[in-house]
Amino acid sequence: MAKGVYISKSLAIATVVLTLSALGGIIVMVTLYQMQIAKMPPQPLPSLLPTTPIPTGLPPTLRLPDNLIPKSYEVNLRPHLYTTLPNATEQVYLFEGNSTVRFKCVKDTWTIILHAVDLSIDKVVVTHSNTSENIGVERYTLHQDSHFFEILLKKQLVGNGDYYDLFTIFKGELYDDLTGLYMSHYTEVIDGEEEKRFLVASQLQATEARKVFPCFDEPALKAVFNITIIHRPNTKALSNGKLDNERYVDGDMWIASTFAPTPIMSTYLLAFTVNEFISENGEHDKKDISIWARPEAVNAGHAKYAKSITGKILSFYEKTFNLKYPLNKLDQIALPDFSAGAMENWGLTMYRESALLYKEAVSSSSDKEWVAIVVAHELAHQWFGNLVTMNWWNNLWLSEGFATYLSYLAVDNIEPTWKIGAAVLTMLSAYMGEEKFFEGLRCYLERYKYKTAETAELWRCMQEATHEEVESIMKTWTEQVGFPVININTTTGEIAQEQFLLKREEDTGLEWQIPIIYMKSDFRQQKTLLKEKGPVRKPAYEVTDDGWLLVNINRNGYYRVNYDEQNWNRLIRQLESNHQPIPLINRGQLIDDAFNLARAKYINVTLALSTTKYLINETEYIPWESALNNLYYFILMFDRSEVYGPMQKYLRKQVEPLYKYYQEYTDNTTIPRNLSDQYNQINAISVACKNGLKVCTDMVTKLFNEWKNGTDEIPPNLKSTIYCNAIAAGDEDDWEYAWKKYEESRVASEQDVLRYALSCTKIIWLLSRYLEYTLDPDKIRKMDAVSTIRLIASNVAGQALAWDFIRAQWENLNQLFGVGLISFGGLINDVTERFNTEFELQQLKQFKNEHDGDSLGPVTQALDQAIERTEANIKWVKENKQTVLNWFREQTQVY
Ligand SMILES: *[C@@H]1O[C@H](CO)[C@@H](O)[C@H](O)[C@H]1NC(C)=O
Ligand SMILES: *[C@@H]1O[C@H](CO)[C@@H](O)[C@H](O)[C@H]1NC(C)=O
Ligand SMILES: *[C@@H]1O[C@H](CO)[C@@H](O)[C@H](O)[C@H]1NC(C)=O
Ligand SMILES: *[C@@H]1O[C@H](CO)[C@@H](O)[C@H](O)[C@H]1NC(C)=O
Ligand SMILES: *[C@@H]1O[C@H](CO)[C@@H](O)[C@H](O)[C@H]1NC(C)=O
Ligand SMILES: *[C@@H]1O[C@H](CO)[C@@H](O)[C@H](O)[C@H]1NC(C)=O
Ligand SMILES: *[C@@H]1O[C@H](CO)[C@@H](O)[C@H](O)[C@H]1NC(C)=O
Ligand SMILES: *[C@@H]1O[C@H](CO)[C@@H](O)[C@H](O)[C@H]1NC(C)=O
Ligand SMILES: *[C@@H]1O[C@H](CO)[C@@H](O)[C@H](O)[C@H]1NC(C)=O
Ligand SMILES: [Zn+2]
Repeated sequence: MAKGVYISKSLAIATVVLTLSALGGIIVMVTLYQMQIAKMPPQPLPSLLPTTPIPTGLPPTLRLPDNLIPKSYEVNLRPHLYTTLPNATEQVYLFEGNSTVRFKCVKDTWTIILHAVDLSIDKVVVTHSNTSENIGVERYTLHQDSHFFEILLKKQLVGNGDYYDLFTIFKGELYDDLTGLYMSHYTEVIDGEEEKRFLVASQLQATEARKVFPCFDEPALKAVFNITIIHRPNTKALSNGKLDNERYVDGDMWIASTFAPTPIMSTYLLAFTVNEFISENGEHDKKDISIWARPEAVNAGHAKYAKSITGKILSFYEKTFNLKYPLNKLDQIALPDFSAGAMENWGLTMYRESALLYKEAVSSSSDKEWVAIVVAHELAHQWFGNLVTMNWWNNLWLSEGFATYLSYLAVDNIEPTWKIGAAVLTMLSAYMGEEKFFEGLRCYLERYKYKTAETAELWRCMQEATHEEVESIMKTWTEQVGFPVININTTTGEIAQEQFLLKREEDTGLEWQIPIIYMKSDFRQQKTLLKEKGPVRKPAYEVTDDGWLLVNINRNGYYRVNYDEQNWNRLIRQLESNHQPIPLINRGQLIDDAFNLARAKYINVTLALSTTKYLINETEYIPWESALNNLYYFILMFDRSEVYGPMQKYLRKQVEPLYKYYQEYTDNTTIPRNLSDQYNQINAISVACKNGLKVCTDMVTKLFNEWKNGTDEIPPNLKSTIYCNAIAAGDEDDWEYAWKKYEESRVASEQDVLRYALSCTKIIWLLSRYLEYTLDPDKIRKMDAVSTIRLIASNVAGQALAWDFIRAQWENLNQLFGVGLISFGGLINDVTERFNTEFELQQLKQFKNEHDGDSLGPVTQALDQAIERTEANIKWVKENKQTVLNWFREQTQVY
C-alpha cells in the first residue's frame, strides 16, 4: 500500500459497505499524485558538460535518460546501530555500504545518471563488465533538487548493448524519520524491568531507495538484487530474498547475512530490517511463512491470527490469478513505528503493529477485520503491483484500486461469516460479469509478469475476455478526473449526465460511458449502457402512476443519481412505508446521494434531511453509517450554534429504537453475530450518548467506573465508544486513569483506543495539556503525534485550542515531523474543518501569508483548500441555517 494513501480504518470499513472504495481509491490516488508533483516539481538539471538532454515536463516529473538500463545489483549494507545498548558503548546512527550495479548501454553517453540523495559517496569506479577495462571518472555530482547522481566519464560509452559495472562506496545516517533506511525503538520488559531496544527498518515507496544506495530509482527499471546485510551479533536481518548464508566477519564482530537473488523487481519494493524480533512460523505450499514482531507480542500470541490467515489468502489469490505466489518465502513484520499502514515489499511486507497483530478479547472485531483487510491488501500486491508493476506513478491507482478490491474478495472468502461487502463488485466486474473480469485479470498478470504495464494494457485484456468495448468505456473513467451525476426526469424519461462537482459552475463538458443497472417499483433489475451526454428521452426511465425509479442498484457504478422531486418523494415514501424491498446498499445510497446533491444545490436540503426520517425504523448498519457520515457536516457546521439543540433532540429520537434494539446485547455484554450488527451497535451507543440519551450516558459511566474499580472488563468492540463517552462525561480523575492505562498498555490497538478516548474530554485544560504531550515523544509516539492533534481538533471543545496550538508551535512541529508533509495537509484539514465565520477566514488567510515563504507544497495546498472550504461553509451556513433549524424544530415539535 502506498505511503500516506492509507485511508483511516473507520473510513475503510465505511467505504467498503458503500462500495465507494474503488472510487475513493482513484480519487485519493489522483490527489496524491498531484501532491507528489507539487512536492517535486520538474526542474531543469544543473548540468555538467557534455550531457544527454534531460526530459522535463509534466507529468511525469523528472525522468532518467533512457540510455542506460540496469540489469542487476549487488548491495552490501552495514547499519552500525546496536539493537541492545552495551553498557559502555554509545549508539551509532550510521550505515555504510557499497554496491555494484550492472547496466547495459543502449545509447551513446558521456555521463551516467542515476539516483542518490542524502548519501555521502566515497568512491566511484566504472568498469566494462566483460573486459574489466576501467573507464575513468572525470568527476561526479549529487544534485540535491533532482536527486540525480551524475557521473561524468573520461570516455564516451557506446550504445552497443555492452554491460558496465558501476561500483560505489557510500555512507548515510539512520534517522527516526520513517523513510529510507531508518531506526526506531521500543521497550521490552525483561524480568519486570523496561529496557530500550533499537531496530533498523526501511520504507522505500515511492522514491526512497535512492536514500539507501545509488540506484536507477524508477518503477519500470526493474532488476535483480543481490543483497547482503552486515549486522551486529545477536540480531536478525531480513530482506526480500530468502537467507542464503550467514557468516561471521571482522573477527566475529559482525554477521554477514546474504540473501538469495530477488526476481526481477522495482527498487521501491526492496526492504531491509535488522532487529531482535522473533517469529510465529507456518508453511504454505512448502514455503516458509513467518510473522515477525516484538518477542513480547509473539509470545503473547498476537501474531497467531495473521499467520492463520496468510496461507488461506495466498491460496485464494493463487486460485484466482492462476499463478503461484512468485517467491519462495514470505516474511511479514509488525513495526512499532511505521509511517504507512503497511507496505507490500516483495517477500517482506511491513506493517504497523495494529495492522498485523491481533489479541483475542482485547482487540475489537474491527481490529480483526482491519488486520485481515490490510494483510489481504498487501498480499494482493505481491501479484498486482510487484509481479506486474505500473509503468509510472500516475498509474499507481491501478494497483491500489485493484489491491483494495481484491482484498475484500479475499477476506470475504476466508472469513465468510463476517459477510463484509457481500455485494462489493466494481462497476466493471458488475457490467462484464465476474468470470470474464477475472479472465481479463489473469491474462494481464500472465502477459506482463516481471514487467511493467500501462492501464490500457489491462483494459485490452478485459476486452479480449468479453469482446465488449472495455477500453473505450474505462478510458472515460480513468483519463478524466472526477465522476458524473445523472439527472433523470421520470415524467418524461429525459436523462442527462454532467460532471458532479460540489461547487457547481459551468458544465465542464465531460462525458462518460456509464454502465447502468436500475429497477422500478416492480423490483425487476435491468442493465444498459448510457453513452450520450444528453439530454435524451428514453422510455425506460419513465414511470407512470404512483411508481418510482431507482438507478445504480447496489451502487456498483461510480456516479450519483438525481431525480425529479416527485420521484424523490415517492422513493422516500417507499422507505417510510416499507423499506425492505429497497436493496440495503441503495438505502444507504439514497441518503448519500441526497446529501451530496443538496450540497451541490441540485436539491433542497430539506429533501436530503427527509431521507433520514425512516431511520427510526432502520436497524441496518449501512443506511445508518451513510446518514451519520453525511450528518457529520451538519454537526461540524452547527455544533457551536442554536441549531444544535433541536438537532440533538431529533437524533436522540431517531436513535432511541436502535439503542433499544441492541440494549440486551449491551447489557449482557454479548456480541451480535455478524460484523455489521457489531458496528451498528457501536453507532447506536455513540449517537445515543453524544446526543444525551440518558440510559446511554448512565450505562457508559457505570461500565467505566467498574473498569476503574478493576471489577469488570469492557467488551473490546465497545471500548472505543465507552471510554470516549465516559471521559466526555467524566472528570480529571477519569482522564488520568485512562492516561495511566495508555502509558501501561503494550497493545497497539488498545493504545489507539485510549489515545482517541483521551481526546474526548470537555475539560479545556486537560485538552491543552494533551496537546503539549504530542511534542514529547516519550509521551506520544512520533508516528501518532499528528493524528492525536487531529483527534483533539475534531472535538468541539478542542478545536480552537488545536488551531492555536499549531499556529504557536508551527516551527516546532515542522522540525519534529517535517517529513510527513502529507499528514500535515490532513492536520490543516481537520483543524479547520469547522471554520464557517468571516473571522476564522481572516485568521486562515493571515496564517497562510505568514508561511507563504516556507515552500511547503502540500501544506500550502491544504491551506488553500481550507480557505476555499471556509468560504463555501460561510455561504452554506448563511443559505441553510434557518431552513435546517426550522426543519429540526418541526421534527421535534419545539418552537
Ligand atoms: C547477482 O546475482 C546473480 C545470480 O547469482 C548474478 O548473475 C549477478 O551477476 C549478480 N549481480 C551482481 C551485480 O553481482
Ligand atoms: C559492561 O559492564 C560490565 C560490568 O559492569 C563490565 O564487566 C563489562 O566490561 C562492560 N561491558 C562493556 C562493553 O563495557
Ligand atoms: C563491500 O562491502 C563488503 C561488506 O562490508 C566488503 O566485504 C567488501 O570488501 C566491500 N567491497 C569493496 C570492493 O570494498
Ligand atoms: C560479454 O559477456 C556476455 C555474457 O558473458 C556475452 O554474451 C557478450 O557477448 C560479451 N560481450 C562482449 C563485448 O564481449
Ligand atoms: C420534468 O419534465 C416535466 C415535463 O416536461 C416538467 O414539467 C418538469 O419541470 C421536469 N422536471 C424537472 C426536475 O426537470
Ligand atoms: C415506521 O414504521 C411504522 C410501522 O411500520 C410506520 O407506521 C411508520 O410510518 C414508520 N415511520 C417512519 C418515519 O418511517
Ligand atoms: C428549501 O425548502 C424550504 C422549505 O421546505 C424553503 O423554506 C427554502 O427556501 C428552500 N430552499 C431553497 C434553497 O430553495
Ligand atoms: C441476555 O440475558 C438474558 C438473561 O440471561 C437472556 O434471556 C437473553 O437471551 C440475553 N440476550 C442476549 C441478546 O444475549
Ligand atoms: C468500587 O469498589 C469499592 C470497593 O471495592 C466499592 O465500595 C464501590 O462501590 C465500587 N464502585 C463501583 C462504581 O463499582
Ligand atoms: Zn496498496
